[in-house]
Amino acid sequence: MEKTTQMYEGKAKKVFATDNPDYCIVSYKDDATAFNGLKKGTILGKGAINNRVTNHLMRLLEKNGVPTHLVEELNDRETLVKKVSIVPLEVIVRNIAAGSLSKRLGLPEGVKMGSTVLEYCYKNDDLGDPMVNEYHILAMGWATKEELDLIASYSFKVNQVLSDYLKEANIELIDFKLEFGKTKDGQIVLADEISPDTCRFWDSTTHEKLDKDRFRRDLGGVEDAYQEIMRRLLGENV
Ligand code: TMP
Ligand code: ASP
Repeated sequence: MEKTTQMYEGKAKKVFATDNPDYCIVSYKDDATAFNGLKKGTILGKGAINNRVTNHLMRLLEKNGVPTHLVEELNDRETLVKKVSIVPLEVIVRNIAAGSLSKRLGLPEGVKMGSTVLEYCYKNDDLGDPMVNEYHILAMGWATKEELDLIASYSFKVNQVLSDYLKEANIELIDFKLEFGKTKDGQIVLADEISPDTCRFWDSTTHEKLDKDRFRRDLGGVEDAYQEIMRRLLGENV
């Protein structure tokens, strides 16, 4: 399939149309932003790592019954995906308190919660992605009850599959963000990415941060952390 016009440029990816209207090509950038675009930078090698890590994890999820938009990795940075209309929600799954939940509830980072927490944010940069609940989502028509139930059950499944898999690589899955889309046949599938940009990964032994918090918080060793995730999950360097 041939790349045609650019449809969209986001903070970390570009999306291109193809000569087949049912498919798109996603191209991962090295650009990094935080705090709704206020902080900007580059993480060398990030585009290729996030592309490869996302596809690796999506293949694992597909095998475990979670449908995704993934079709085929084309090269280092580019992947062919099913064209979907994105449900305008960021679905956040949390196992351990960190980030905005720690701030909101006054819980120190690293505290294990009694059970998994699911949060929804309305995907809207102008509004700063505000947190919403199921009532807002249904009232606004962003998803139906059936779609939202499916999104929640897929999100818990993703958490279980990824947490178990990452444990083998001595990585603790603290929290992560998912996005879902709807194919032209109306199927809900996992879309976007699953990478150190969108997950908190801590070394299980040392609790060292191996994710974008190193960039957000100016902790240094940003590129090394992305490389380390790539090495632990795919056994190779980029
Ligand atoms: P938070 O603690 O800042 O709300 O982040 C929760 C998780 O969601 C964390 O793993 C990082 C991820 N995330 C994104 O992928 N995109 C975003 O815009 C934000 C704010 C968080
Ligand atoms: N990527 C998001 C932004 O620039 C936020 C984040 O990942 O912290 O706003």
